[in-house]
Formats: sequence, structure tokens, C-alpha cells
Amino acid sequence: MFENNSELARAIRKDIVGELEAINQYDLHYNMTQDPVPKAIWAQIRDEEKVHVGELMVLLTYVEPSDYKFFAEGEKEAKEIIKDIYKS
Ligand SMILES: [Fe+2]
Repeated sequence: MFENNSELARAIRKDIVGELEAINQYDLHYNMTQDPVPKAIWAQIRDEEKVHVGELMVLLTYVEPSDYKFFAEGEKEAKEIIKDIYKS
């Protein structure tokens, strides 16, 4: 049982790490074969894990709303860097 939302948020962040590691693993396996059957199944599973990342990110910002401003700030900063690179 989680004592508070901070503990719950830590668990969700750990779940996100697990999903991201799974994406990399399925993608690695996808790229290690030419057989279309395992390729198709690994691609589908990999993409399902990406959906799980999205779900967990929403859950994280629900449980720990203060995290959202940092995510939004990072998104804004990265977009400005990209914009600056393509501007020149
Ligand atoms: Fe998953």
C-alpha cells in the first residue's frame, strides 16, 4: 500500500522506465530478424508499450500535478532549440 502520492508517483515513474526498456528491447528484436511474422508481432507489442507510456504519463501528472510544469517546460525548451536550428 502506498503511504502517499509521492510514493505512488515514484512507482509510476519506475513503471515508465520499465515500459521504455521494453520498447527498446522489442525494437532491438524487431531489427534482428527478417522474418515478417515475429517482426509484425514485435512491432505491435512495441507500439502497445508506447501507448502504455502515454497512459502512465497521464497517470503521473494526475497523481503528481507539479511534475507537469517541468515536463511542459522541457517540451518548450526543446521546441525552441529545434526552432532555432531550423531558423538559421
Ligand atoms: Fe506495457
